[in-house]
Amino acid sequence: MFLRSVRGFSVSATARSSYEHNVRNTVSHIHSLYREQTPISMVTAYDYMTSRMNDAAGVDITLVGDSLANTTLGYRDTNELSLEEMLFHVRSVRRGSARALLVADMPFGSFETSLEQATETSIKLVKAGVQAVKIEGGDDRILATIEKLLSVGIPVMGHLGLTPQRHNAMGGYRLQGASVESAEAILQAAHNLQDAGVFSMVLECIPTQLAKIITQSLDVPTIGIGAGHFTSGQVLVNADLLGMQSGPVPRFAHKYANFFDIGVQGLKEYTEQVKNRSFPTPDHGYKIKKDVLEKLKENISMKL
Ligand code: KIV
Repeated sequence: MFLRSVRGFSVSATARSSYEHNVRNTVSHIHSLYREQTPISMVTAYDYMTSRMNDAAGVDITLVGDSLANTTLGYRDTNELSLEEMLFHVRSVRRGSARALLVADMPFGSFETSLEQATETSIKLVKAGVQAVKIEGGDDRILATIEKLLSVGIPVMGHLGLTPQRHNAMGGYRLQGASVESAEAILQAAHNLQDAGVFSMVLECIPTQLAKIITQSLDVPTIGIGAGHFTSGQVLVNADLLGMQSGPVPRFAHKYANFFDIGVQGLKEYTEQVKNRSFPTPDHGYKIKKDVLEKLKENISMKL
């Protein structure tokens, strides 16, 4: 049986969550969930608060996704995000996290030019607090990068299907793998990523049945977003899941809460109460001792 040591004693690393054991999830823990066919939950987080929420909810993997760019920083697309911004947010997420496996995206422009650049970037991300990095794509250059990162001891998560960093080349954010040729290319890329050594891979915006074929043919977990219900796990962007922005969410997502509307409602009430002077009430204030106040007034009047 697969054993791992937890604070001095050994436990079976089965589907029992590391949450119960108060230790951080590891790649091996994610693999044990996969072997036992327990679905894996992954959610993005971009700061201390959202990271703490993921941990409190028992999310298996917290992804500091480069969706940080559009959802939190207000950029047009993920390609505007810099490595420095990503590192700043990874540190914040790490401070809020004790249990989820932490994975960060390699931002656009931080790994493409050479293996050295990719290695330096991933080492910076690990030093900022993540246990693994995610990299989009599956061409030969990406495979070589994955092998290089593994050689320095950094686990890598792949990402196939819709890869937002290439949305300009892909002609927009659209379903991938809809033709036989494109479906076969994604299936082949998934196997190439597995052979290169990824510990899991995101499948984004591909047909459900294609995701099923890929998942069934691999020995590493697939984490789907817009890829149906046959993948080994699911990932959602926290802004969609928690309704942090007004308006509808993408068809493949589900709004489990309505943070934006609840937040705006609270802010409206606060503003109204400030305007009509019903907040703060006397109970929100701090008292001063009578003799201190009297002395203070006396001192002030002497100076005036
Ligand atoms: O950046 C991100 O949030 C992602 C997920 C959609 C998988 O890559």
